[in-house]
Amino acid sequence: MQIRKMVLEDIEFALSLTTGEGWSDLHSDFVALISHTPPAAFVGEKAGTSIGMVSTVSYGDFGYFGSLIVSKEYRNRGLGRALLEHAIAYLRSEGVKVMMLDGVSSALSLYKRLGFKTVCHSLRMEGIIAGYSSGRVRSMQVNDLKKIFNIDLHNFGADHSYFLKRIIKQFPELCKVLEDEREIKGFVMGSRRGNFTRIAPCVVKDGAVEAALLIKAVSTQSPKALLRLGVLESNIEAVIMLKRLGFTVVSASYRMVQGNPNEISFSNGMYAIGSPAKG
Ligand SMILES: CC(C)(COP(=O)(O)OP(=O)(O)OC[C@H]1O[C@@H](n2cnc3c(N)ncnc32)[C@H](O)[C@@H]1OP(=O)(O)O)[C@@H](O)C(=O)NCCC(=O)NCCS
Repeated sequence: MQIRKMVLEDIEFALSLTTGEGWSDLHSDFVALISHTPPAAFVGEKAGTSIGMVSTVSYGDFGYFGSLIVSKEYRNRGLGRALLEHAIAYLRSEGVKVMMLDGVSSALSLYKRLGFKTVCHSLRMEGIIAGYSSGRVRSMQVNDLKKIFNIDLHNFGADHSYFLKRIIKQFPELCKVLEDEREIKGFVMGSRRGNFTRIAPCVVKDGAVEAALLIKAVSTQSPKALLRLGVLESNIEAVIMLKRLGFTVVSASYRMVQGNPNEISFSNGMYAIGSPAKG
């Protein structure tokens, strides 16, 4: 198998793989990965036929893997492992020291063989939530971005702004901030995906009440629409808040880290993670 960088012409293939798994990736998600610096998606091919892919986002010291899929007819031949090994070597060459992913249980043995250790469950939750427009929540404006990127940096732990900017541009009506005395305390972003809206991310420092208000504000934009999000199970306050709002856990994968998991800490300010592939 040859492994090369994904290009725009590969996106239809990438979406055929994600759709085949029942995942909700958009064309724009792959455009974002391809146009990221450094480029963040690879395709595996044999004799000119595309047969698998993997994504690898470098945030400097740490990076994420996602979108690891091998075409069904080529599985159990070591190709998934080869794609992942390529991605690990690539992130190492970019200077990444800590690597993370959200792994489904059927792929755990593959990840463990390559040195990943389980940290906690990464929950997928969904619900139809009553919308509410709080006076503390308003639409996100371009002038807010510097402050928002700063809040994200302190909670996510790296500069996510490249991906966040793209969400604001595509779904401005689903991006909100919560303010107290003109000070932004947190923000939420959403994206429309088929028959549901994905909340990703929702970031507030120490503020379950505020995070709930932000999520309810997104719900006012799509009344009665299904909302979905991901949250780490280790963020107990977030999980309790989300269950109270009406979310239920529909599936769970494992947050895995290559390196010593005891050296990793996750901020409880992430009430919804950005995405399984990008952190
Ligand atoms: C997960 C996935 C990418 C693995 O791809 P793959 O090419 O089948 O992976 P590999 O062949 O490297 O390894 C899978 C198994 O085949 C075995 N295997 C590897 N080479 C083999 C060979 N030459 N002959 C027989 N078996 C082999 C491995 O030991 C492994 O077994 P295990 O899972 O019991 O440990 C693939 O199953 C997939 O696309 N799944 C759907 C999407 C998905 O869930 N992605 C992961 C999201 S976290």
